[in-house]
Formats: sequence, C-alpha cells, structure tokens
Amino acid sequence: MIKKFIILGPNKIEGEVKISGSKNSALPILYSCLLIKKEIIIKNIPNLKDINITLKLFKKIGIKIKREKNIIIINAKYININYFSSNLIKKIRASIWLLAPILIRCKKIKMNTPGGCKLGYRPIDLHIYVLKHLGVKIKYKNNIIKAKINKKLTSNVILFKKKSVGATITSILISIFIKKKIIIKNCSKEPEIIDTINFLNKCGAKIYGKGTNTITIYGVKKLSSCKYKILPDRIETGTYLVASAISRGKIICYNTNPNILKSILYKLKLSGAKIKIKNDFIKLDMKNKRCKSVNIITNPYPYFPTDMQPQFTLLNCISKGKSLIKENIFKKRFSHIKQLKKMGANIKHINNKIICYGVKKIFGKTIIAKDLRCAITLILAGCIAYGKTTIKYINHVYRGYENIIKKFKNLKIKIKKIN
Ligand code: EPZ
Repeated sequence: MIKKFIILGPNKIEGEVKISGSKNSALPILYSCLLIKKEIIIKNIPNLKDINITLKLFKKIGIKIKREKNIIIINAKYININYFSSNLIKKIRASIWLLAPILIRCKKIKMNTPGGCKLGYRPIDLHIYVLKHLGVKIKYKNNIIKAKINKKLTSNVILFKKKSVGATITSILISIFIKKKIIIKNCSKEPEIIDTINFLNKCGAKIYGKGTNTITIYGVKKLSSCKYKILPDRIETGTYLVASAISRGKIICYNTNPNILKSILYKLKLSGAKIKIKNDFIKLDMKNKRCKSVNIITNPYPYFPTDMQPQFTLLNCISKGKSLIKENIFKKRFSHIKQLKKMGANIKHINNKIICYGVKKIFGKTIIAKDLRCAITLILAGCIAYGKTTIKYINHVYRGYENIIKKFKNLKIKIKKIN
C-alpha cells in the first residue's frame, strides 16, 4: 500500500511522455457495456484505481471480464443482482452509472450512494430527476437509493437546470431503449461524453446532437457487439504540459489529441509557452523562461476544466505577477492551497476565488494529498521545489494517473515511493 512519495528538487522537466486513455471516458463507456449482452472489446483503457474498482464491482454481479494490458474484453450477458451491499460503490463517483443499466436489465436496484474525491457536497439530485422523469420510481434517503422501473414517462423532454457530466451520461443510458424520442436539453458536452455517444452509436444506438446543448435519442430494441478505442486523457496531457512549463523546460506529449484541450493550450500560450501541435502530439517549450501568470475561470466544456484548476494554481504561484482563479464547479476544490502555502506560495483564498502573488521559488516540505488533482499538483510542486518534498496519502494519485512513477522517472525526476 503506497503511502508517500519523496521528490528531490528542483528539476527541469524535459523529454517525452506517452498519454494514456481517458479515465473519464473509460468509466462511462464501461458502465454503458452493462446494456449490451454481447462481448465488447475496448482498447486504451488505463490501469487506474477507479477502473479497477469498477471491474471488481462488475465481477461481483456476474459480468465476464478479461484484461490484456490496456484492452478489456467485457461480456454482460448475465447479470445477477438484487441488492448491492458493496462498499466498492462508495469508493468512486462513477458507480452512480450503475443505476440506469441495472434498472433496464433487472428492473430494480437498491444500492448505496457513490463516493469520489472530497470536493465538497456531491449531490445526485440531477440523476434522480432524470430517472424519475423517464419512468423510474426512486427513493433516496440515508445514503441508500431504492429504484424500480414503472414505465410511465412524465414527458419525453429532459431540461437540466445546470450542466452535469454525470447526469448527462445517466440520461443517455436510461433513454437508449425507450420507444419514444427523448430530448435532453442543457446537457454537458465534454469530449468524454462525445466518446461515450460514439461508442453507443457504434453498438447500434441512435443518439444525435453530440457536442451540442441538446441530445436527441431514438429508442432501439437492442445493442450489438463492437470494438472501440478510448479517447486520450486531456487532463493527464494538460498536467504534463504544466509540469514542464513551471520547470521552464520542454516536453512532447504524444498519443494525445490537441483538439480536446484548446482552453488549456490557450492559457499555456498566454503564460509564455511555445506550443506546436500535430494530429496526435503536442510540443511545449518554455525556452527557459519563467511563466507569466494567467487568470482562470472554470466552467463546463468547452471552457476551462475544473480538473486543471489545482495545476494552474501552482503555475500561478511561481509565475510573474498577480492572478485570479475562479472555481465555479466544485465548492471545495481548494485542498491544494494550504499545502502550497507550506512550501512558500503566496496565495489568498476567498470563497470560490484564489488570488496568487507569484514567487520565484518554493521549498520542499512534508505535505498532505487530499484528493486526486490535489495529489498530482503536489507532485508537480515537489518537482520544482528546492530541496526534499515528502507527500503523504499519495494513493489518491493512482485514481487518475497511469504509470506515474515510470513517466516521471522518464522525465528525469528524482522521485521514489515509500510503502
Ligand atoms: C465528472 O464528475 C468527472 N468525473 C469529474 O472528474 C469532473 O471534474 C466533473 O465531471 C466536471 O464537471 C467523472 O467523469 C468520473 P458533474 P461529476 O455532475 O459527474 C453538481 C476528476 O478529477 N451536481 O459534472 O460528478 C456538482 O456538485 C473528477 O477526474 C449537482 O448539483 O460532475 C458540481 O458542482 C473530479 N447535482 C457540478 O454539478 C448532481 O446530480 C458538476 O458536476 C450532479 C452534479
């Protein structure tokens, strides 16, 4: 059980990194497989904790899983479940996507509520709204969800009061086989949702409007088998680009897709990075220069992603000038601030705003990781800090970053894990 990382800095991050498949694409696509009673082959699945917990969950309910490195062969022909008492559900947010497929396959489900990074209260009201609206009788109290299909649709139009990646996926999954045309308005349009729609359409679904605010779904009788390759991880890509930028280095991220992180590349260019892109690689070069600070406002795609806010808070901490970051998605995605201050960063945190006054240097300390993107941000901080950084409770990072020690060692970072 890895408990902490030790990093000796400062380092200049230069070299190449192969980007893995997207965690936030692989998860909804794996849960979508529960709708299909055939063997499905999915490639470029990253070896991450959240994926492994999901596969453990699936095996518990009788689903056949075979894994060859980054290829998963899954067959959900037989599902035997009446009550989920598994504490695995509480470990990840993605388990919420069990609701729609299990209701369709088994007509009822009782399960505890999902978990996930502690980013403040993480409600599921939008998921409940969708399911109720589309013919599900659902009760939710004391962290237990009890639901069953009762056929009567309230109407065939879903209108989200706010954009939600998770609830958009739930609304798609529950609608696939409904005979009436279902219209989903104000839906999220993250690349990972488009990837899930592409996967489902390849299996025979009829989902239109991907990447727009309105998705229309025409029900089909069943879905068939297919082979599919997952999208590259845009947040992992952005993370390694920031790692090199803050160390005044240069890096090539390959096996990625520059078109799905335009907002991140735009901010890195504003910060002084020279960026070159080709169809599946991005080259960043700081020409040995210190970053300029950049103002950030997080919002649903295509705007700046909340999953890159901690990494850019660090970039602003060591850049020239003062900057403002507004976090509009998660109320408590600020656990990195206290730890960065311990290292010498000059940061003010007021409500959902972060004001950074750039300093030239930060210093190695013993710090604590509280969630996935906080953990990776502290690793990046350790890479550029002067002296030794010890990061405790580092296991969070294995939820979202594949082969992290190997990738950082390939970038010549002096990093080691302590059990
Ligand atoms: C997904 O989380 C991602 N997780 C998150 O990635 C990502 O940060 C987030 O989308 C971005 O929006 C996965 O895909 C597994 P939301 P999700 O529903 O679906 C509120 C990472 O680091 N909300 O889009 O949970 C919610 O509180 C993780 O990789 C409701 O109010 O996010 C938040 O303020 C972190 N009611 C906002 O909507 C609901 O029913 C966006 O949440 C659901 C959400």
